[in-house]
Amino acid sequence: MHGTLTEAEGFLAYLAEHERKSLLRFITCGSVDDGKSTLIGRLLFDSKLIFEDQLASLEKDSRKHGTVGDDIDFALLVDGLAAEREQGITIDVAYRFFATDRRKFIVADTPGHVQYTRNMATGASTADAAVILVDARQGILTQTRRHSFIVSLLGIRHVVLAVNKIDLVGCDRQVFERIAAEYRAFAEDFGFESLVAVPLSARFGDNVMSRSDETPWYEGPTLLQRLEEIEVSDTRLARPFRMAVQWVNRPNLDFRGFSGTIASGVVRPGDPVAVARSGKTSRVKAIVTHDGDLAEAGAGEAVTLTLDDEIDISRGDVLCPPDRRPEVSDQFAAHLLWMAEDALLPGRPYLLKIGTRTVTAQVTEIRHQVDVNSFQHLAAKTLNLNEVGVVNVSTSEPVAFDAYAEDRATGAFILIDRATNLTVAAGMIRFGLRRAQNVHWQALAVTKDDRAAIKGQKPAVLWFTGLSGAGKSTIADLVERRLHAMGRHTYLLDGDNLRHGLTRDLGFTDADRVENIRRVGEAARLFVDAGTIVLVSLISPFRADRLAARQRMGEGEFVEIFVDTPLALAESRDPKGLYKRAREGKIANFTGIDSPYEAPEAPEIRIDTGAVDATQAAEQVVAWLAERGYLG
Ligand code: ADX
Repeated sequence: MHGTLTEAEGFLAYLAEHERKSLLRFITCGSVDDGKSTLIGRLLFDSKLIFEDQLASLEKDSRKHGTVGDDIDFALLVDGLAAEREQGITIDVAYRFFATDRRKFIVADTPGHVQYTRNMATGASTADAAVILVDARQGILTQTRRHSFIVSLLGIRHVVLAVNKIDLVGCDRQVFERIAAEYRAFAEDFGFESLVAVPLSARFGDNVMSRSDETPWYEGPTLLQRLEEIEVSDTRLARPFRMAVQWVNRPNLDFRGFSGTIASGVVRPGDPVAVARSGKTSRVKAIVTHDGDLAEAGAGEAVTLTLDDEIDISRGDVLCPPDRRPEVSDQFAAHLLWMAEDALLPGRPYLLKIGTRTVTAQVTEIRHQVDVNSFQHLAAKTLNLNEVGVVNVSTSEPVAFDAYAEDRATGAFILIDRATNLTVAAGMIRFGLRRAQNVHWQALAVTKDDRAAIKGQKPAVLWFTGLSGAGKSTIADLVERRLHAMGRHTYLLDGDNLRHGLTRDLGFTDADRVENIRRVGEAARLFVDAGTIVLVSLISPFRADRLAARQRMGEGEFVEIFVDTPLALAESRDPKGLYKRAREGKIANFTGIDSPYEAPEAPEIRIDTGAVDATQAAEQVVAWLAERGYLG
């Protein structure tokens, strides 16, 4: 047989061998230079779980990139991609496996570069413990505080403070003790269940696996000993049963199963279950897996459940015991860790993913931001990269959840930017908002259709978007005059005019524009509901927010009209002299100058103002409406 195991074979062998040992999941946090990668490399190397082929390539790479002379550079072992190696920083989360005689470990190697807190949060959500690295020469940094705060937010209860590079401070006991004391002082409020500080040198292995002769004054455990000792009980199993349905498995008419990974608790055939959102109930008939039916399944296991009754269940639904249900609400308060370069915009719709369910959601309020240095609460209008706040979230439809403090699996969510598809935030739910339960829709007898019918028209919003000075208001005004002359019921919402009333509290920052578009969109929706043809003339520069306004309307009710005037042309017209003033720096955040305009990609109508004048443009719009039956 070939002497070298492939990674897959090696991993399977590893699993079999270590099946009965307890498992500790931990993360490491530290700045780039704290030696985090070196430490993980050291743990893996010393526990002999590096596969031979990996080792060979490591030696080769060390010679190529290494920064430590002839020694193997352990950092290279975990710094996955070549490009990252060149930059000397780690970017992605990588999961590493190793084992000792007493325990097996999964370490999420989460990069410490300040921009990459996002990855840390990703790796941390399932971790039992965190190893927080500091450089003995530097002591506690802002990053150390931020990481510790996030670790506590994520519900990690056990912390090891690794005071690394102790050799570089002459293995000085006082340096170590000062750092440990400072850390303990600020970490006190986090209420970690255990906190142990270890002086070590990842590079030379001191106090990593074996005790160091260089620190005779240190009597505590080595890092690995400590990691072996941390007591973890799988609390997920003790929680009430929760399973988010990933997909409905219906291979033929006789079989209908609900597949997913059990988030918490245990389930057995015969157990009563409820669908959290609809409240429908049934009983578990069988727990089906590839290897046959099970008598019991618990948290972490991927299964398919069949039920006694044919009840309505779809992807995203959460199954639970009828007497221990999660909360179901469309409004809740949460801790939010913002992870994107672009700041959070309250009022902007993001996608919210919780369990297997994705809905649209907005942050309706930032209750406060938390200063990562002093942990004080600050007032804030937005959250920037790496900032943490407590916010109120409102979702387009009710979702099922538990408080994160009770259940890390069902209390966590992420926010995704709809335009870029990037994960922009990690959220931990604190509690549902009571007000959501007390405000209901009042059913009204006269409907939109009734109101539209009496006017003999098809209600819609004609949404004119484009640069300032593009000609939106002029064209909208002409269209309204034409429609009015035809006996249509119309109303014109003009951005400039609204800013004297409905939106007078708003300025021109991104956040204010998002709210401006949202508010005008809501007003337009009411007019449509009243059976009116409403014209909106608003720069509305952001695609995501125009899309949100569109999605609040019914099919065919949102007619986006792009008044396409190139910046140079709008600027040369400059009807209000605003471009000139913006160029002189007298107006900040001016659209097209120092604030972006995101042109529509597929507007219903595009008006090329270089080719047609305002009257022709108005004709174009009216003709479009007439052709499609809007005018009765
Ligand atoms: S929007 O971007 O929030 O949709 P809105 O259409 O309400 O803008 O208002 C734009 C009008 O405000 C412009 O026509 C212009 O007269 C005026 N204005 C004043 N400051 C600015 C600015 N910084 N950017 C754009 N328009 C501005």
